[in-house]
Amino acid sequence: MTKKRSILVTSALPYANGPIHLGHMLEHIQSDIFVRFQRSQNHEVYFVCADDCHGTPVMIKANSLGITPEQLIEQVGIEHKSDIEGFLVAYDNYYKTHSEENKVFSQEIYKKLEQKGFISTKTISQLFDPEKNMFLPDRFVKGTCPKCGAQDQYGDNCEVCSATYNPTDLKDAYSTISGAKPILKDSLHYFFDLPKFNDFLHDYVKNSNAIPKEMANKLEEWFTQGLKQWDISRDAPYFGFEIPNTENKYFYVWLDAPIGYMASFKNFCDKNNVDFDSFFNKDSDKELYHFIGKDILYFHSLFWPATLHGADYRVPSGIFVHGYVTVNGAKMSKSKGTFIKANTYLKHLKPEALRYYFASKMTAQAVDLDLSLDDFIAKVNSDIVGKVVNLASRTAGFINKRFDGMLANEVYDNELMQKISAIKDSVRDNFDSRNYQEAIKLIMSLADEANRFIDREAPWVLAKDESQSDKLHKVCTDALNCFKALITYLAPVLPNVAHDAKEFLNDELLFENVDKPLLNHKINKFKPLFTRIEKEMVDAMIEDSKQDLIEANKENAKKDTKENTANSEYEPLENEISIDDFAKIDLRVATILKAEHVEGAKKLLRLEVDLGFETRQIFAGIKSAYKDPNELVGRQIIVVANLKARQMKFGLSQGMAMAAGAGGEQIYLLSVDSGAKNGDRVH
Ligand code: MSP
Ligand code: ZN
Repeated sequence: MTKKRSILVTSALPYANGPIHLGHMLEHIQSDIFVRFQRSQNHEVYFVCADDCHGTPVMIKANSLGITPEQLIEQVGIEHKSDIEGFLVAYDNYYKTHSEENKVFSQEIYKKLEQKGFISTKTISQLFDPEKNMFLPDRFVKGTCPKCGAQDQYGDNCEVCSATYNPTDLKDAYSTISGAKPILKDSLHYFFDLPKFNDFLHDYVKNSNAIPKEMANKLEEWFTQGLKQWDISRDAPYFGFEIPNTENKYFYVWLDAPIGYMASFKNFCDKNNVDFDSFFNKDSDKELYHFIGKDILYFHSLFWPATLHGADYRVPSGIFVHGYVTVNGAKMSKSKGTFIKANTYLKHLKPEALRYYFASKMTAQAVDLDLSLDDFIAKVNSDIVGKVVNLASRTAGFINKRFDGMLANEVYDNELMQKISAIKDSVRDNFDSRNYQEAIKLIMSLADEANRFIDREAPWVLAKDESQSDKLHKVCTDALNCFKALITYLAPVLPNVAHDAKEFLNDELLFENVDKPLLNHKINKFKPLFTRIEKEMVDAMIEDSKQDLIEANKENAKKDTKENTANSEYEPLENEISIDDFAKIDLRVATILKAEHVEGAKKLLRLEVDLGFETRQIFAGIKSAYKDPNELVGRQIIVVANLKARQMKFGLSQGMAMAAGAGGEQIYLLSVDSGAKNGDRVH
């Protein structure tokens, strides 16, 4: 028996301002497989995560939805949890960083750092939105690139020419929140003295084995360039925790986010009588692993260990870094429909299909992982259905019908059974070192062996010959014992299949018994464990994801910021027409003489308009945008004057007032430059 280990595992905390997508799921699936595997080795394992609630984007988003940040994170928390559970990721606790525990830890850690002289202050000058009265993070400033002149570029780099610069260098800068021109404003900031941790961190990164070697080499650059003071404060308004003994200063979201790992675990420990301190005190011998994406390595390998060490806590035993998910070889793209949200996927496909596909390509290296959709369909169908589940579906019937559900009392092909034990240690080591790809390869090679065995022994032929009954019994028993081993090995990846297989095989499927065949053992009726993926399901998911984009754009169109006009969806153009077609539409200038509400009509205003040669009544569906009809009186507008009059519930509508916009509050009546006379035709 190996020594029983105590392990705490975390995944990075998803931001609470957006939905969970398949990129996030890579990480949750990777960590969940690790946790399930370690549990199968009988270790003590805890698994926590949380939503990362603080920061400007959450505050802005809540604002634009007309709700409080607290309401937003509550709503998002429910969605995130359900998405993650939908993928069978079983956190012991999925919490939030906006919690009492996190506040207490963050303030306590800060005070400790301050006492020890690791905090200093400095006045810095930053862009400030004079309309919203707030400092602007780089991503909320846009303007013209100082290098190439491209418009609408973000505050820190140009997507057109890749130049990097300071937001203050942008030409025609504007705040994406209000559209106002930012000004420079001074403010006192609090800094964490990272350079003081240089030697400690260098040693940690190089020698502790916590950071994968190839990552550690990359980090060397950061040490050569020299560590910098870390700005940990933000001015109000900010959604976060106040810094003790300051006024209107808040912790920068990245200070309290990783502390959220501790807070989530603490919240769990308190409810479940687990000893929190034994995991976090300075000389804890328990293991602490963080699964993260390559984009947040700096925070986890420098800031976070320095914060912990500075405040006299233990540091992580391992930072496990993964790459990014691409779809069909390219970055996930909203317009291609490959920016797939977790819940969109789950509407169309089984969670275990993705778990298996990801696992079959996951290594301990931080390389990108491509979800190639055709390959996904082919691999899942061929491996899970074709090689694993089929093994049982081809043999279970014989055992149930011919042998009353009892397995034979001895093994037929010992060599085959030995192949199960032969891979046991490597499967274990590969799961333990997060080389799932290799583990899956070994498991599938066992599946291939088992299928070759079935093809060779052809139970369906044996079944026709009564004298072969004994052999049939043993062959099917061997096949089902291979199936048992395959599912036992795959259980961390396919928890539902494993659950159903347990019932079918009437066995616990313990890892330690993976190579002990079930003999003279009663099994239950076989039920289909997994259905094939059809291409239509994947196509429907992509279509649905495109639909998400259209919905999102409609939402965005409602927000009247410069930022959003750049990527909104335009209505498709109508078919081409000739000038003669156009001439059939008689557009005239008219002045609104009267505008009033119509009793019983939710959307309509009644207009009386002067067309010069006559006065007409028009019912226009513009009420949602023009709350006060009196505003309209005297305005010159454009009317479709030869539209067939229409009898409505409220009266006759003799024409149409022209307007642009998406509807709702976004309706804009057309007007003409001054000088036009009522009745003038528009050409
Ligand atoms: N809130 C921070 C993490 C704080 S941890 C103390 C954050 N949130 S995130 O929502 O942007 O990302 C959460 C995790 O998902 C990160 O590890 C990130 O690398 C990962 N991924 C986000 N998009 C991804 C892909 N497209 N592919 C793979 N992982 C990706 O960062
Ligand atoms: Zn540029």
